[in-house]
Amino acid sequence: MMTDTLPPEAVFSERDEAARAILIANDRGGYTVPTAGLYPYQWNWDSAFAALGFARFDLNRAWAEIETLFTGQWESGMVPHILFHKPDPGYFPGPDVWGCHGPIASSGITQPPVALSFAPRLLRQDPDFGAERFRALFPKMRAWAEWFLRWRRDEKGAIFVIHPWESGRDNAPDWDDAMEGVDPQGVGYYERRDTQHVDASMRPTKYDYDRYIWLVQRGKRLGWDDAAMAEGNPFRVADPTMHFILLRGLRELLIAGDQLGLDTGGLEDQIAALEEGAKALWNPGMGFFDSYNCNNGIWSNALTNASFLCWFGGVSAPEMERHLRRVLDAAPYGVPSLAPFDPRFDAKRYWRGPTWAMMNMMIGEGASEAGIALGEEVRQRTQEVIAKYGFVEYFDPMTGEAAGGKAFTWTAAVWLAWAGKEG
Ligand code: GLC
Repeated sequence: MMTDTLPPEAVFSERDEAARAILIANDRGGYTVPTAGLYPYQWNWDSAFAALGFARFDLNRAWAEIETLFTGQWESGMVPHILFHKPDPGYFPGPDVWGCHGPIASSGITQPPVALSFAPRLLRQDPDFGAERFRALFPKMRAWAEWFLRWRRDEKGAIFVIHPWESGRDNAPDWDDAMEGVDPQGVGYYERRDTQHVDASMRPTKYDYDRYIWLVQRGKRLGWDDAAMAEGNPFRVADPTMHFILLRGLRELLIAGDQLGLDTGGLEDQIAALEEGAKALWNPGMGFFDSYNCNNGIWSNALTNASFLCWFGGVSAPEMERHLRRVLDAAPYGVPSLAPFDPRFDAKRYWRGPTWAMMNMMIGEGASEAGIALGEEVRQRTQEVIAKYGFVEYFDPMTGEAAGGKAFTWTAAVWLAWAGKEG
């Protein structure tokens, strides 16, 4: 069933040591930055992976990562995608651009709730050690899940995002149609910082960036009020990343909550609602899980790595196994963020082609749990690409070449928690 991280007494290889050194170097005291320079704050789903990495050698520190994340939770239950713990002028858009008023300076959108699944894992690793800490987090985690169900669920029951950054797959083709509907007039002058750290050919384009910033300005203008933002929102895209990750989170919370005798009332119904809602993400024309523009119903027609998160969410469809075989045959170095046979594929541009270790982990583990042998193949390929090219942000799925930021937290963490272990 659900897999746990390796026990802390596991033997460490030299590469394990290098991964551990990255986590330690990116530790800013209670939270970890994804990588120094390019991403100098705490990112929501990055932190959840960091926690699993820390759990290999310091379980206390692993819990702290998730606890720190929840110190940024808003009254509404939302947990922001970035927490700006300490100012860093090297990053744009910073706290002044977002203009939020949560307990900690933050962005105004969320990110996939991987932490809901990973806190129960920390608990399983050492139930005595984690029980109190899990108990304290449980109502907060439920409040976050309930916020999603209230504010990010469309008429068909699918979870949607209101900004590409919310999905964590910033420039995926999934957003193209909705982005066309955003007119970035009046966005004004701004200076990007990302392209000062990483080659512009590996980053989203100016067309995308103008719209990212325009959407942030809209949220700020509306005071990040959920009800106000829901009205006439030009960007609402139903997203398999959010849907499947939230569904798994709810399942894990139910199991762990029951084990500790916590009040799990309502969770079963929420799970059933998302199982039903997952049907809305099935693109019948293409025969795979897909995203769609909630405002006009247009499908992305994109077979992405998010499509393959179905198993992580405990949802299976035999066609998805066949699709996974096809993309692995086309791309030797891990599940590409977009199928290489899609004309929009771009091997080095972020979420339009490259393979990401943390997505591979959720896909591989989910598939293995569902009894699909390809899950182990995904793990081996991820192990190989990291071993050859290092702990970088993402990889060209055709050549394996390193891309994006270096010394990356979640790639190191995924090595420790999953990719690096002997099969
Ligand atoms: C990029 C990624 C996002 C991640 C962040 C920090 O914005 O697209 O998923 O959380 O970087 O690593």
